Amino acid sequence: MTRKSPSKAERYFSTGISMITSSGTNGPNVMAAEWVMQISYSPVLIAVFIHRGSQTIKNIEKTKEFGVNVASQGQTIEVSVAGGYSGSEIDKLKIKNVFSILKPHKIKTPMIANCTINAECKLVRKEKLGDHVMLVGKVVHMEHDETKRPLIYHRGRYFGLDSTIEPGRENAQVSKDTFEFFKNIAHGKFVLKCVGVVTELDDKILVMKWTNSTFETIPFVMSPPGKNQREYLKRYLAGMKMHIKIEKEPTMKRLVLKNGTEIQRINFVLFKGKCTKLTEKYSWKTKHDEIIVNLV
Ligand SMILES: Cc1cc2nc3c(=O)[nH]c(=O)nc-3n(C[C@H](O)[C@H](O)[C@H](O)COP(=O)(O)O)c2cc1C
Repeated sequence: MTRKSPSKAERYFSTGISMITSSGTNGPNVMAAEWVMQISYSPVLIAVFIHRGSQTIKNIEKTKEFGVNVASQGQTIEVSVAGGYSGSEIDKLKIKNVFSILKPHKIKTPMIANCTINAECKLVRKEKLGDHVMLVGKVVHMEHDETKRPLIYHRGRYFGLDSTIEPGRENAQVSKDTFEFFKNIAHGKFVLKCVGVVTELDDKILVMKWTNSTFETIPFVMSPPGKNQREYLKRYLAGMKMHIKIEKEPTMKRLVLKNGTEIQRINFVLFKGKCTKLTEKYSWKTKHDEIIVNLV
């Protein structure tokens, strides 16, 4: 398959849209901006990238504050007006039936109602980058409306977030026991991450432990974050006195375990291994086990 490479490839990003409010000599103003993103959790910092010709940048340079109002799906008219005119031409906020204003909490600049997020910011950094200026604001007050859905912008058109996409996971219907086993070791984690070894003999797979209540199908372990998973696995198997030679390249199996309406996501990083010495302690199971069948 050949990939298309449009000459204006930079126009193919997808973004959200914010309405940046500011105040200046012409009074309060609003502009539309797609180049807006959170760049730190603590403190919460938001970077906005604004062109030199705008009224907004003059206002922010003067007052050192601005509002980031993340547009919701019902706000295409507000965004088009905020982005289609300059505050140097018209008082956009005074146009009838377009914007609903919210009183700010910690800054003097008014905010826009009906947005998904309203963040009041104090300017902490300004830097010219290419043909735009990066303005970084420290958030001094922030609100979020759970009932609103964000507006998405792509190639000059507006979109909604109407479906979620499971990122390449296979569904695995499992029994209650199996489900509970993985759910318990996940401790409420959204994704349980495991690293393991698939060791095959004829049409069977080496199983480390197998009783009626607890089992580990393919030897697996949860390596601590930041640790090299293969090395950790090697040490783990050596500790269990298992003589297994592990291959270098793993495969990734991403499952959604399902039991009734409950789900648990699991990422298995699976290495192939070869048993160098058979030991009586571990048993071989056929591939029909409900987890094994989904992993190999
Ligand atoms: C959807 C949309 C997104 C925009 N994103 C940006 C942006 O990220 N940065 C920017 O400088 N201008 C952006 N603009 C253009 C400004 O909103 C526009 O120049 C506006 O008139 C500036 O208003 P002001 O002069 O009142 O500040 C965007 C316009 C639209 C319609």
